[in-house]
Formats: sequence, structure tokens, C-alpha cells
Amino acid sequence: MHFLACAQSWAVWLALLSAGALAVGSHDQRPFVSNRGSGGGAHKARVGVGYVGGLNPLSHQDYAPFTLAPFDAESFKPYGHLPSLTNDFTILQHPAFPKYSVRIKKSDFCDGTVAAYTGYIDIEARHLFFYFFESRSDPAKDDVIFWTNGGPGGSSTIGLFMELGPCRVVNATATEFSEESWNSNANIFFIDQPVGVGFSYAEYGEYVSTTEEAAKDIAAFVAIFFENFISLRGRAFHMAGESYGGRYVPLFASAVYDQNAKLVEAGLTPINLSSIMIGNGWTDQYVQSLAYYDMQCGGASFPPVFDISTCVRMKQAVPRCAKLLHASCMDVFDGVGCYEATAICELELQTPYMASDRNPYDMSKKCEGGTILEGSLCYSVIDSIEEYLAQPSLRAQLGVDPAITTNHTTRSEAVGARFAASLDVLRTSHDYVAALLERRVRVLIYAGAYDWICNWVGNERWTRALAWSGQAEFAGQQLRDWEVGGAVAGKTRSAQGFTFATIEGAGHMAPYDKPKESLELVNRWLAGEEL
Ligand SMILES: *[C@@H]1O[C@H](CO)[C@@H](O)[C@H](O)[C@H]1NC(C)=O
Ligand SMILES: *[C@@H]1O[C@H](CO)[C@@H](O)[C@H](O)[C@H]1NC(C)=O
Ligand SMILES: *[C@@H]1O[C@H](CO)[C@@H](O)[C@H](O)[C@H]1NC(C)=O
Repeated sequence: MHFLACAQSWAVWLALLSAGALAVGSHDQRPFVSNRGSGGGAHKARVGVGYVGGLNPLSHQDYAPFTLAPFDAESFKPYGHLPSLTNDFTILQHPAFPKYSVRIKKSDFCDGTVAAYTGYIDIEARHLFFYFFESRSDPAKDDVIFWTNGGPGGSSTIGLFMELGPCRVVNATATEFSEESWNSNANIFFIDQPVGVGFSYAEYGEYVSTTEEAAKDIAAFVAIFFENFISLRGRAFHMAGESYGGRYVPLFASAVYDQNAKLVEAGLTPINLSSIMIGNGWTDQYVQSLAYYDMQCGGASFPPVFDISTCVRMKQAVPRCAKLLHASCMDVFDGVGCYEATAICELELQTPYMASDRNPYDMSKKCEGGTILEGSLCYSVIDSIEEYLAQPSLRAQLGVDPAITTNHTTRSEAVGARFAASLDVLRTSHDYVAALLERRVRVLIYAGAYDWICNWVGNERWTRALAWSGQAEFAGQQLRDWEVGGAVAGKTRSAQGFTFATIEGAGHMAPYDKPKESLELVNRWLAGEEL
């Protein structure tokens, strides 16, 4: 059984398939598992999977940021300005966050036209790697974007080197400049989180297994970074992500927002959280998990892909699945029951598609290199990214800690298994989106229309169903076309700071397929323009 419908770390849910087979005996899916994941993690990960969290009727956990440490304002000297950083690490700190520090260096790679920086957020034994690129336009004034990929366990290097970064990996040793990078008009971070992903690491076996825990580290990092670079203070800030980022980003942004009250109290500048952006996200999974039917049998983007017999079975499964999810995940949150309900829904509505040779991230394509259930990544470029980041000279240039003796972890099975064991993967995040909207943080939900796994139908449905003060105006609108260069780029609706948009002809990694349209979407969004 797997939960990570929007995962970019397929091997993670391969691990869960075998673990789930123990939990839900009558739905043994092991025949699909080929255990091709790196290092045989599918079996190792099984150990970590259980029902930690168990019964939690409120389905609510606490991401509340740490209380800031009392400090003497005189004792803090901000670092100053980004361009003064050198090729050696500089350590940034803030006395309000005594357990945290940031290592940062100039790295001069990937873009070539602007400064690039890399480093670590050090939280006692946890170390999160990040990439930071200045804007190609006006770095001293442009907004700042924070980007994370999903998984859980997926590295943001997929976003950086395949989708929206300043360069794209072409093979094991080379990248090419990307004209349509999202740093065209914004400074941008790519962060590998939680520990265990990318070049992020931990000592003493430390790990993070929920989004709430991860959110605290992110909020503290953002505060330390913005406090140290004077010209960044008060700069408009946008938190963005994809796939499981549909859970990460609403919680990360909420932690940043709530932390602001504490920053103000301590006399610090609050983070100017302007918006969140989620691409092909997994946010309200109990709505989204029913939408597979519409994609594969309901003609939502393509004609039905299964025979009538299969589609009829799926159609009949939809209301039953809805009822099961309601009873065990929504009316109350019963960890065991919700886990099982999700397993049954997946078996009925997802497994047939994933066992086929179709690409779950793009219905117009075949999955390269076998089916996703066999552990294929479907895109060979992701393998190239891993090879590219294996180069010792590049790792030295980036400042990858010598403590990391393994290859870059483009997808971590262990992280995915931990998030499953903590039941993080069963929790919804849409209420955080509503809460941000009520506080005038703008929200952009976009979806490549060819994606199956976190498809536009499910995203459109939950955005319309979302309860907030602007719901009637938002949900009451017809979808309209939006255009780039006179051609239809997708459909959209928008009200009171909440925008939903599709990108036609794009899959899950929308900027990979439609870089021009995706950049235009983001540029208009940053500028506060209508699409
Ligand atoms: C990688 O791509 C670069 C640029 O296209 C090319 O010069 C180089 O030969 C390629 N290397 C390999 C190993 O294919
Ligand atoms: C926050 O950013 C917005 C742009 O999104 C800008 O208009 C506003 O002045 C900024 N606020 C502060 C306090 O700097
Ligand atoms: C690390 O990556 C390189 C290049 O992809 C590969 O040849 C090597 O086998 C990998 N090492 C391990 C330990 O996985």
C-alpha cells in the first residue's frame, strides 16, 4: 500500500506497499513490488512503518514555532549584504534562535549571470542544504521565492535542475542555461528538506517525520536569513512547492506567519509573507483521491484509458471510497481505519493506472524505463541529476559537507516511510490555506492539466469546496481562459487573492513541460496582475 500519491519518491511508497501488505492482509499488492529502489530500502523501511499517532480525533498537530530566546538587541550585528559573501563559508546567527545557525558561501554555478549561494541551515544535529540564486532582474529589490519539492523525501534539485531553476541538467557533467528560470524576476531558494533528502543530513540518527516538525526549522531559517541580510528585511516573500509541497507549503507558511507575531514582539522585522504557490499539489487528499476516476475514465483531459468493465468498477468504487474516507479520516481521525480506507481507495482507483506503462505524471506520455510500480522515475533526466551531483569537484564547489559520504539523495525512501509511519501522509492541509487567505496571504493553486497523480480535477474541486470568507465569490465563477502571447495557456478563476489555474499541455512538473507559460504565470502572480 502506498500513500504518497503525489510522491516524487516512488520507492518510498514501494516501501509502503510491502509494509501495507502486512497491515491490510486482503489487499496484498506485493506482486507489483520489484524492489528496485536504491539500497534495498523497500525492506529496510518496513521496520519504521507503524501506526504511530494512532487515534487522534482532531487530526491536529502542533507546528507552533519555538518561543524566541530572550536576547540583547545590542548584541546582534547583522551580516550585512549578500554580495560580501565569499567562496568560504560564513556563519550567520541570531541570538533569538540560539540553537540555529546558517553556513553560506558563494558558489558561482548553474546561472552564470547572477550570484549563486549554497549552504546549510544547522539545527544542532540536523543540517538542511539550500541553494539560493539572485534575481536576474533587480536582486536588491525583487521578491524572494522559497521552493520545495514534495515526496515526502523528494529533493528540490528536481525543481532546480529539471523544472524552474536557472539551469537544466543535460547529462552527468553538463547543464544548460534556462531562459525561463523563475529567478528571472525574483531571488529564489531551493531547499532540501527534511534531513535525509538531497545533501541534507543529520548526526546521531536524528530525523524529522512530520511536516509540523519540519515547519519549525523552516520558519527559524527564514527569520535568521532575513534578519542578517539587511536589504532583505520586509521584502515580499512567496513560499512555493509542488506535489507533497501541497502539504508542506501551507504549514510552512502558517509557521512563518505565526512566528511573525513573536518577531514583532521581540522588536524584529516580520517576514513579509505575501503569497503561497502550489503546483500540482496534494492538499485535500480526501477530495483529490476520488478525482482519479475523472482523469482515467471520465474524460477530464483525455478519453477513457481503461476498458468499460474496469471503468464501471472504478465508478462504483468512488462513492464507497468517499464513504470510507469520511468515516475514518474526516468525521474522526482514526489512524488505523484511515490507513485502511486509503489503501482500499488506492487499490481500486490508482493501482491499475500505476501498474500500466503510462506516466502518472503526464497522461500523454509513457513512463520511461518501466512502470512506476517497478520503481522507475519515468524521466531519465532525474537520473542525470543524481549523476551530475555525484561529481566530486561540483560537490566541493557547492560546499557539500564531507560528512556526507553517500551520493546525493534525490529521493529518500526512509523519509517517506517515516512520514507514513507518523501518519503525516494521511493529514489534510487545506484548512491552513483557508487560514492564510483570511489573513490576506494570496494563494495560487496551479496544475499542469496532463498530470494524473495530483490532477487538476481534484485541485479544482478542493479549491471550490474550501470554506473561507471568499468562497461564494470564488466558487461562483466560471473558469475562463488565460493566455500567453495570444494563445490559450490554460483555465483560471480568481477571487479575493485566491487563484486556481491550469496549464494546458503540461504534466506534474509543469515548468518542465511548459516553461514559458509557467514563468509567465509566476511573473504575473508576483506582480499581482490578473492572469
Ligand atoms: C554532456 O553534454 C555536453 C554539452 O552538450 C557535451 O559537450 C558532453 O560531451 C556531454 N557529455 C556526455 C558524457 O555525454
Ligand atoms: C510587503 O510586500 C508588498 C508586496 O507584496 C509590498 O507592497 C509591501 O510594501 C511590503 N511590506 C513591507 C512592510 O515592507
Ligand atoms: C553514486 O553515483 C554514481 C554516479 O551516478 C554511481 O556510479 C555510483 O555507483 C553511486 N554510488 C553509490 C554508492 O550508490
